[in-house]
Amino acid sequence: MPRQDINEKPFDEGTLTKLEIFQLYVREWLPVFLAREKIVWPQVHLFDFFCGSGTDSKGIAGSPLRILEELAKQPAWLARRDVSTTVHFFDEKSEKIDDLKAGIEQRGFNVLGANFTIEAGEFSKTFEKAKSLLCSGSTACLVFLDQYGIKDVSEDVFKFLVGCPCTDFLFFISSAIFSRLGDQPCIRKYLDLGKPEDSYEAHRAVADHFRRWIPAGTDYYLAPFSIKKGANVYGLVFGSGHPLGMEKFLRVAWKKDQLNGEANFDINREGLSAQQPSLFNERPTKVTAFEADLRNGIIARRLCTEADIYRFCISGGMTPSHAEPVIMAMKREGLVECTWSVPQIKSLKDSRPFSVSPKD
Ligand SMILES: C[S@@+](CC[C@H](N)C(=O)[O-])C[C@H]1O[C@@H](n2cnc3c(N)ncnc32)[C@H](O)[C@@H]1O
Repeated sequence: MPRQDINEKPFDEGTLTKLEIFQLYVREWLPVFLAREKIVWPQVHLFDFFCGSGTDSKGIAGSPLRILEELAKQPAWLARRDVSTTVHFFDEKSEKIDDLKAGIEQRGFNVLGANFTIEAGEFSKTFEKAKSLLCSGSTACLVFLDQYGIKDVSEDVFKFLVGCPCTDFLFFISSAIFSRLGDQPCIRKYLDLGKPEDSYEAHRAVADHFRRWIPAGTDYYLAPFSIKKGANVYGLVFGSGHPLGMEKFLRVAWKKDQLNGEANFDINREGLSAQQPSLFNERPTKVTAFEADLRNGIIARRLCTEADIYRFCISGGMTPSHAEPVIMAMKREGLVECTWSVPQIKSLKDSRPFSVSPKD
């Protein structure tokens, strides 16, 4: 029986998680480019290459309408004369594009003040046409690739996006396919990852595989978010060339998963629930391990500056605020001296004073 189209049935919980993460990231991303006093990138572009028709069967907004909802909240940004904002919506099905155009008009989003490109088109062609904007030095771009399956985000597509100067991306991938068929040639030709032993780990393994395609010596940030639907694990992969992009994505991810910041389920099988904290005040291993590593790193003087601590948080999939309890405790114990407790991104250019007390 053919699978029912995603826009012709109610979005399931996993799809809603995906869409909420995407929308929250759009909310974090827009002000970086549109709210700054002095505009650095005169063009802002948001690309949704697999946009669908705009809603599910119950009228719940899909990705394109969620982008527009976020833009509609900030009319002053769209009225600015020093920066133009363009949304690009593509889908291979022209009926979906027609429905989307109608939905946009119905909601009055067509008069927001943004520019629109809404066209039917197959991804390989629409992506090819978008390349010059994506890799331009004067554009800031956000790309959403909500593909079915696994095949559209190829090595070439991924490497192209990683090479763009100011393009963040978020893509969806059906990682469960690797748990079932990862050893089959028909799957290996797209991603030669093999078959992850633990289905819970499937999406982490997929993200690690993509990580290997980042050219050596490139500072690039990649984070997975695993999404379980029934027995299957799917997921999002986020990519940004800038630590601020990663910090913002991690803030979104931790908002959705207070245990590990990387899944809509108990990915480390600890029996903990973000909704129902444990009676015994157990804390997730990821948080306690991070806190211990941070403390040990400071004591051993491997982490000597605010910038070191900021990088340690981001590269470990933690937000800078996760460092706060450790820094506060070490201050109380007289082990470190500093006026701050949460490391800031500004520290990468100019770290605030931080000193570790000499041992007695
Ligand atoms: C997972 S759905 C996207 C749903 C959308 N993000 C939403 O929120 O409603 C994938 C969409 O991609 C379209 N699609 C599938 N293969 C495509 C391709 N090769 N090029 C462009 N669109 C494609 C499908 O028609 C479908 O609408």
